[in-house]
Amino acid sequence: MATVDPVASPKTATPKDAGLLEVNFCGLKFASPIVLLSGCVGFGEEYTRIEGFSNREAGAIVLKGTTGRARLGNPPHRVYETPAGMLNAIGLQNPGAGYVVDEILPTLDFTETRFIANVSGSTIEEYVEVTRRFDQSPIDAIEINISCPNVKEGGVAFGNYPDMSAQVVSACRAVTRKPLITKLSPNQTDIRENARRCIEAGTDGLAVINTVMGMAIDVESRRPVIGNIQGGLSGPAIKPIALLKVHQVYEVARAHRIPIIGQGGITTATDALEFLIAGASAVGIGTALFYDPMVCVKVNEGIAEYLKAHRLANVSELTGTLTTARATENCAVSG
Ligand SMILES: Cc1cc2nc3c(=O)[nH]c(=O)nc-3n(C[C@H](O)[C@H](O)[C@H](O)COP(=O)(O)O)c2cc1C
Repeated sequence: MATVDPVASPKTATPKDAGLLEVNFCGLKFASPIVLLSGCVGFGEEYTRIEGFSNREAGAIVLKGTTGRARLGNPPHRVYETPAGMLNAIGLQNPGAGYVVDEILPTLDFTETRFIANVSGSTIEEYVEVTRRFDQSPIDAIEINISCPNVKEGGVAFGNYPDMSAQVVSACRAVTRKPLITKLSPNQTDIRENARRCIEAGTDGLAVINTVMGMAIDVESRRPVIGNIQGGLSGPAIKPIALLKVHQVYEVARAHRIPIIGQGGITTATDALEFLIAGASAVGIGTALFYDPMVCVKVNEGIAEYLKAHRLANVSELTGTLTTARATENCAVSG
């Protein structure tokens, strides 16, 4: 029988240069600044079927958005490739909070990485119900996805309005002492104001950004390609937008010592470094996993190389080191 080399085994592999890459995020120890993003890794087990892939390469994994009751999701098409990105309108397909907590969480290996729930809902009551459910579970942290449409307010997204975002955050804050991360929408006028309100409402961390709304049209049928008409754009196409939003949110969050998971189009170590320099304490990878499931190994190695070359002892020393002449609030419009 072949013996398994415990060092080479993906099950026991940790990122190389662990000391350099370790970060403290909302009091949780992440072995790497990389966070695998919600909706791109199922419920934490999806990529473990791929030879050579290890959850240990990621500091944390965010589970698929979870609602109070099971949801079948939207009609097809649900995903569509675009230049340098993809549109998705999955519609939060998930088996419901009870199933996730009772049936899925017990199957996850919490020694591999940190697991973060992604809470979604159509009403504030639903957000609270799901948050409470995860609060009474072994999950390490709770991320609130405020990009969902509020059915009581006629479908406007909670995350596009600072007042509504703050209401969701304070209601969830009241029912959990686990680290609470709020995922901000880029589809709003002033992300700084929204970040400020979410911090005041008690969030411990921020995830910046969720997808950018977009659409695609089939010219032959003259119909929208996506069954839901509109979808969320992700991947490299949104990276410059995401980077600016992280920088803007950092201008607000740094005074409160609220850490940010920067995300949107990261596919390389250089992308990740840009987000860290802009103000992120951790970096999310989602869409890139679809075409390169081993991307985390390369990103971890590339970040470590950079830290060594710049004589930095830990990745956290890089956070927010951007040099600018002035705050973005005072920047002239482009064009
Ligand atoms: C297919 C798909 C499903 C997603 N589902 C969720 C979700 O359930 N909850 C959530 O907060 N974000 C969801 N997202 C957004 C991602 O978590 C991430 O914020 C976004 O895709 C930007 O990162 P990326 O460009 O690296 O993919 C989803 C993204 C994709 C592509």
